[in-house]
Amino acid sequence: MATRAAEMKAKGIPVINFGVGEPDFNTPAHIINAGKKAMDDGFTKYTAGPGMIELREAIIEKLKRENKLEFTLDQILVSNGEKQSLYNACQALFQEGNEVINFAPYWVSFPEMVRLADAEPIFVKTDSNKQFEPDFDDLESKITPNIKGVIMNSPSNPTGGVWSEQAVIKLLNLAVKHNWVIISDECYERLVFEQSFVSTEKINRDHQIGAEVLTCLSMSKTYAMTGWRIGYTAGNKVLTKAMAKIQGQATSCANSIGQKASIEALTGDQTCVTDMRDQFKERRNVMVQLLNDLPGVKCEMPGGAFYTFADFSSYLGRKADGKILKDSFDISEYILGCAQVVTVPGDGFGAPGYIRFSFATNIEIIQNGLEKVKSALKQIV
Ligand SMILES: Cc1ncc(COP(=O)(O)O)c(C=O)c1O
Repeated sequence: MATRAAEMKAKGIPVINFGVGEPDFNTPAHIINAGKKAMDDGFTKYTAGPGMIELREAIIEKLKRENKLEFTLDQILVSNGEKQSLYNACQALFQEGNEVINFAPYWVSFPEMVRLADAEPIFVKTDSNKQFEPDFDDLESKITPNIKGVIMNSPSNPTGGVWSEQAVIKLLNLAVKHNWVIISDECYERLVFEQSFVSTEKINRDHQIGAEVLTCLSMSKTYAMTGWRIGYTAGNKVLTKAMAKIQGQATSCANSIGQKASIEALTGDQTCVTDMRDQFKERRNVMVQLLNDLPGVKCEMPGGAFYTFADFSSYLGRKADGKILKDSFDISEYILGCAQVVTVPGDGFGAPGYIRFSFATNIEIIQNGLEKVKSALKQIV
């Protein structure tokens, strides 16, 4: 879809992009200035492999302040984006013969990271009417002794779903019973719109469940810092050490300038975070309403992140431009060709019939883009 959109743009066709997976805001000025200062001060060399002590201390402080969780320095690993954190975790934890639970719809990288560790992803269904929480009957039916871990992501990419505390407790209890490690990807933790976010590890500790949880976090979405490439994990010391060894041989350390900028982000003024969240919430409300106004489209209100995940299944099997729409790839492609609007087909996330629309763009573009989608859908027979 991105390639076709680029071709259209090159031909001078204006394209509206609802496919983006990053905030459209620039990194806040005080964070950029900290990066500039790091360069001016010559802070341009390798750092300690697991991350600068000053940054890891800032992370510990942040986890205490916002997540009400206590960690020690040897439990924190800073990586080149949370993507590397997740990759390190899969490499350290899994091997051939292991199975790892992924909840569908899933972020596309989860099953691939599991496969890169020679393990097998096991896909468990979720409930679209309940913020895409796990279908526990489906989960129970898929349990085998080969399962070693679970990857969870609330708030979720692609659905924006935020799981209830009860669902997390149920999963934590199963993890203890079957000795699974839980990798909890919480990169959208600060983009929760109706309630305050509670970390999986906090629920684990508050209820004294005793599951092994690796908390994975990122600077990317909270501070609009996707290009700075800083993510981190907080968890078991032995696991952290193993992940640090893998990282040390792969990329040495995370980038020094990004680490300095991250210290400023975590310790400086936090109003930028709430300002961005408030704008995302306003955009979400507009987008969900306009999606539900489209004929034959259903869209639940996502509790977090910056994605809506709309059900377009009523268009499957129908005809557009003389061609049968057999899956969500066909629908997205038709929308791109006819309305010049980029969307992401749900089939890629393990969700046939769904389409992901990102609201990391301004309200005028959202209104304009969805008006175009509406006209395109009217031509489907
Ligand atoms: C669910 C999820 N996890 C992790 C990441 C990666 O974040 P980072 O930029 O820190 O590598 C993304 C980015 O799109 C994401 O959507």
